[in-house]
Amino acid sequence: MSTDPAPRPHATAEEVEAARHDRKLANVLYHDWEAGSYDDKWSISYDERCITYAADRFRTAVDGHGAGDAAWPYERALELGSGTGFFLLNLMQAGLAEHGSVTDLSPGMVQAALRNAEHLGLDVDGRVADAEKIPYDDDTFDVVVGHAVLHHIPDLDTAFREILRVLKPGGRFVFAGEPTKIGDRYARKLGQLTWKAATTVTRLPALAGWRRPQAELDESSRAAALEAVVDIHVFDPAELDRIARAAGASDVRVVTEEFTAAMLGWPVRTFEAAVPPGKLGMRWALFAYHGWQRLSWLDRCVLSRVVPRAWFYNALITGTKRPESH
Ligand SMILES: C[S@@+](CC[C@H](N)C(=O)[O-])C[C@H]1O[C@@H](n2cnc3c(N)ncnc32)[C@H](O)[C@@H]1O
Repeated sequence: MSTDPAPRPHATAEEVEAARHDRKLANVLYHDWEAGSYDDKWSISYDERCITYAADRFRTAVDGHGAGDAAWPYERALELGSGTGFFLLNLMQAGLAEHGSVTDLSPGMVQAALRNAEHLGLDVDGRVADAEKIPYDDDTFDVVVGHAVLHHIPDLDTAFREILRVLKPGGRFVFAGEPTKIGDRYARKLGQLTWKAATTVTRLPALAGWRRPQAELDESSRAAALEAVVDIHVFDPAELDRIARAAGASDVRVVTEEFTAAMLGWPVRTFEAAVPPGKLGMRWALFAYHGWQRLSWLDRCVLSRVVPRAWFYNALITGTKRPESH
């Protein structure tokens, strides 16, 4: 396992101010800040639940019916914007690839991903890397993946050209978890309404035990302000398809998922962030998870036949590098 990331010291007030005008710096500061608590915040684990979730996203992107793994195991896999390693490490546990490389703009995230890989005994190296300038040679990887990263990258034309450059001819890319334009609108609205309702109701003296200390709520609001700077794009599925093709990708396919599931998921996650950690307990966690699973089934098996794809919350994109490319 090789590693070169050097974690940043804590961000100064000046850096936070500068980050408002520099989206890459904002990404580094925000995600370094989040790295230590990120897995807890997003209920990320490296067990069957998240292994199945990650593998299902890959399969849904590639063919929607579970045969996307015919080429597994790939020899070398790269993840862009890996965060703590949620997507690639779980895909590797599912059998996607023998050797993985995690990369991220945030040194804190690369360090967290390498730590997770080591605990899991996976063959993984890591580098701090900007997806617009990937520090690997041409034709290196059999597969390039990412989850919830494309919407943070300022210049997607350059990033897709870079992805195709580092892929071997015939290699595949898969990106999942990207917000659609319409999905982002209702998810944000529902999140804001839930935050307002939760922080108002918990002011009642009878509910004092449900209120997080003001300093923590203020910190969440500051993080949310920085989050608004790091979230750069929302996607129209057809436009995402066009960007990948214009960079030279073939066999491009964009699918979407989660409609009612996102309408449950965003208020649930916002509510969890608004009350003290651990307050909601196991029964809440099971309600949230099973509710999300049932609504995902409804979205996939019923609503995807009648609701336009642009209305679903999550976009997934796959494509390949032409076999004859150099
Ligand atoms: C929303 S997080 C997702 C992390 C992880 N993929 C997951 O799904 O849990 C986005 C990640 O992309 C990284 N990122 C943002 N801009 C980037 C860029 N230009 N190049 C590489 N990574 C970037 C951030 O530092 C962050 O770790």
